[in-house]
Amino acid sequence: MDFSVSISASPHQTKTPAISVGVFADGVLSVAADAIDRASSGAIRAVIKAEFTGRAGSTLVLRNLDGVAAPRIVLVGLGKQAEYTPRVHARAEQAFAAYCVQARLIEATSTLAAIDCPTAPLRDRARSAAAACGEATYHYDASFGKPDPNARPKLKKLTLQFANAADKAAATIGLTEGGALAHGMSLARTLGNLPGNICTPTYLGEQAKALGKEFKSLSVKVLDRKQIEALKMGSFLSVARGSVEQPRFIVLHYKGKPVAAKRGAKDPAGPIVLVGKGITFDSGGISLKPAATMDEMKFDMCGAASVLGTLRAVAEIGLPGEIIGLIPTCENMPSGSANKPGDVVTSMSGQTIEILNTDAEGRLILCDALTYAERFKPSAVIDIATLTGACVVALGKVNTGLFASDDALAEALLAAGKQSMDTAWRLPLDDAYQEQLKSNFADMANIGGQPGGAVTAACFLARFAKAYHWAHLDIAGTAWRGNSDKGSTGRPVPMLLQYLINQA
Ligand code: BES
Ligand code: MN
Ligand code: ZN
Repeated sequence: MDFSVSISASPHQTKTPAISVGVFADGVLSVAADAIDRASSGAIRAVIKAEFTGRAGSTLVLRNLDGVAAPRIVLVGLGKQAEYTPRVHARAEQAFAAYCVQARLIEATSTLAAIDCPTAPLRDRARSAAAACGEATYHYDASFGKPDPNARPKLKKLTLQFANAADKAAATIGLTEGGALAHGMSLARTLGNLPGNICTPTYLGEQAKALGKEFKSLSVKVLDRKQIEALKMGSFLSVARGSVEQPRFIVLHYKGKPVAAKRGAKDPAGPIVLVGKGITFDSGGISLKPAATMDEMKFDMCGAASVLGTLRAVAEIGLPGEIIGLIPTCENMPSGSANKPGDVVTSMSGQTIEILNTDAEGRLILCDALTYAERFKPSAVIDIATLTGACVVALGKVNTGLFASDDALAEALLAAGKQSMDTAWRLPLDDAYQEQLKSNFADMANIGGQPGGAVTAACFLARFAKAYHWAHLDIAGTAWRGNSDKGSTGRPVPMLLQYLINQA
């Protein structure tokens, strides 16, 4: 997808295959809709009277209006003007893009981001317009025998039109960010959707290397089993040992221009580190999962995919600052060399762990990556993981679970989630929950029992994240959709990218 900004106060003269204009439910026309209505002697007001109610997300196409250059005017409903939110705007952009895809158009123009929204400045609206269009044009066909070329969206170029030349700078920045976000989400979604026999730890390492080739600002190291052994990542390796697939530990290092030092700060702030869970298939191991929906455990690397997608977007934008991505990746399989309940392993930190359930493997690979993160003297570490079914029970598929040892970091992530419409909800981390991880045979157990399962998982990770400000995102409910709509969502790339933009 290609995105650009155009400035014109005459949408009726714009030469484009299709142009969207917003219509509120109470019959109020956007500025662009009004201009086209007047140029076409009232064609829009007439159709509003006759049939178009302006319900949020609805569309109606008017073709070949006299006095209008574009052959298709797409009316997009915005709901009641008093209830207009960034979400309604995003939904409207998605509806327009979906129409363009269905009509097999190659390019189109949208005026929807020009419409004022009290809670979103123009830069945010331009960003979300591009992301919404990316959402509507995403198509997966990598593992079909004969992908149908006619099923592939043709839409390649979206122009956002604004009337006011003063809007150009903010619109261009927002659109650059939104385009990069769309590309990052698309990468994250495709990696998630790929089957476990294709998207292996080796494959993830190759994809990371390819990103490093594409972007000069990104250097990538992929460690193999021997190198992981040399680091003494005994907990991570204990999970990897159950599979014939070789593990990888991926280190991505993004270096943008230095961030302007905050006044009064003595040392330059350390990098932000993102850690993504990369279990390319989670069978549960010896504590085997039930068969129903076990296929969805190919999505257990969506944390890793979100790190790759976010860093891709960061590199495309060229954000200032230093960002590290860490991805421990392996399979969780039952075998003669797999972890057994009761086994005790030694983590890179030296702390020992009694594995009471081999299906609580995410924390076993993440804990060593969190220890590895210490060497960067980070200003913040955020891990992203499809960690617990309990988080899905607590928050459903709406909010990502957020845990943090630092209130400022938690607030910044919550705010970035709201701003990007990729929301999280904070859950507790009190020391009182730590008691559930007590083991008679090691420094800790890897499970804390049913009650508060998402919290005890986070408490386990907290024991390895004491050296820095840390947050944990449990994306078990938000990273993918099941049932007939099955597929990766690309979350939480929008939240992470927004957080990094806001920090830069
Ligand atoms: N990858 C799963 C978490 C998961 C399960 C995400 C279902 C989405 C849907 C994780 O490795 C896991 O198996 N967690 C266990 C932990 C339990 C054994 C303490 C779980 O949630 O059941
Ligand atoms: Mn598991
Ligand atoms: Zn898992």
